[in-house]
Amino acid sequence: MNSPEISPSPGQDAKPNASYIVTQLPTDQELVLKVIPMPADCNANGDIFGGWVMAQVDLAGSVLPARAVRGRFATVAVNQFVFKQPVKVGDLLSFFSKVTRIGHTSMTVRVEVYAERIRTSSEGFLKVTEASLTYVAIDEFGKPRPIQKLEHKS
Ligand SMILES: CC(C)(COP(=O)(O)OP(=O)(O)OC[C@H]1O[C@@H](n2cnc3c(N)ncnc32)[C@H](O)[C@@H]1OP(=O)(O)O)[C@@H](O)C(=O)NCCC(=O)NCCS
Repeated sequence: MNSPEISPSPGQDAKPNASYIVTQLPTDQELVLKVIPMPADCNANGDIFGGWVMAQVDLAGSVLPARAVRGRFATVAVNQFVFKQPVKVGDLLSFFSKVTRIGHTSMTVRVEVYAERIRTSSEGFLKVTEASLTYVAIDEFGKPRPIQKLEHKS
């Protein structure tokens, strides 16, 4: 596999680690968000700010819980968050999610983020981030409430 060509930028990195490049997006997870980061989302190095990525992952991670919980809910924990590769301005980001646990009032999802360097390369998808987050169904007083498991669709 040829290495993708990434144009120089203030945050120029070595070539992406080949082990993070895949030719196909996941088929066993649901596509929950697609977005292209803008220059305003950059850090001082010229790469995309990690906090921006975290916010998108929280939004993406909330999609499957929103469908299952059918009401108010809140993020209670980010159990794991790994930035595997930098995200660049203009990357086409695809967020995939899967429910990994449904508890009494909470559910945990895995989120994987893949980047297509559409401005500089036509090759493959680069896994840039993976995370695990837990959301809790809450009532009108902000207290945990049971999740109706039978209504869940993944
Ligand atoms: C979400 C919230 C209502 C939970 O209240 P709580 O008193 O901690 O509730 P509980 O201890 O009964 O836990 C409720 C569920 O959350 C899970 N949970 C609580 N803390 C957790 C943690 N650190 N990691 C993973 N799961 C956790 C519990 O295991 C439980 O799940 P289960 O019922 O499926 O077994 C409360 O913590 C809260 O309001 N947090 C702020 C949420 C928020 O504002 N999020 C946005 C951040 S900007």
